[in-house]
Amino acid sequence: MNPIILYHSRTGFTQQYATWLSEDLRCAALPYRQRGDVDFSRYDTVLFGSWFHAGRIMGKAWLVRQLPRWADKRVILFVTGAAPEGEGQLAAMERNFTAEQWGRLHPFYLPGGLRYDRMGAADRAMMAVFCRMLRAREGTGSPAYQALSQSFDLSDREKLRPIVDFCGEMK
Ligand SMILES: Cc1cc2nc3c(=O)[nH]c(=O)nc-3n(C[C@H](O)[C@H](O)[C@H](O)COP(=O)(O)O)c2cc1C
Repeated sequence: MNPIILYHSRTGFTQQYATWLSEDLRCAALPYRQRGDVDFSRYDTVLFGSWFHAGRIMGKAWLVRQLPRWADKRVILFVTGAAPEGEGQLAAMERNFTAEQWGRLHPFYLPGGLRYDRMGAADRAMMAVFCRMLRAREGTGSPAYQALSQSFDLSDREKLRPIVDFCGEMK
């Protein structure tokens, strides 16, 4: 297997997972902004890492455009979010794609967290609106409101085991 990792990350969770993966798989991990510099014909496996932004996977439109060109490649998609892992997260990933696109991907969800200090102003404002909405609906004692109104970190290297094992089986 000759893999490459391309990751889209703003506050660092996806970047951290991509860095751990690059160590585990002994391959390069490049940020999304460098995607134009990569000669993908050199790789048989692409691991695309990204994050949820209001249910949407960042960089998804670009990824979808590559799929016809990558017909002979294995494409692994890993997505981080603020939610802990669960079946709902894979379903949320699936909603970003058509059935045909989804069938081309090997999807994995990884728990990330929230880092308010590294968010852009627009994202911080979006989160503030969301938290106000939660507070109005569920009250200040709401566990979701309590959790999402501050920074937290659920990232865990062990969560990469299924991806590393999957890649090991492909060798
Ligand atoms: C504006 C905004 C919207 C978000 N929407 C979701 C979401 O729909 N589902 C989710 O699980 N996490 C959501 N998150 C949390 C991010 O996906 C999470 O912090 C992610 O790990 C960030 O990745 P990064 O650190 O690589 O940028 C959102 C975060 C922001 C700032």
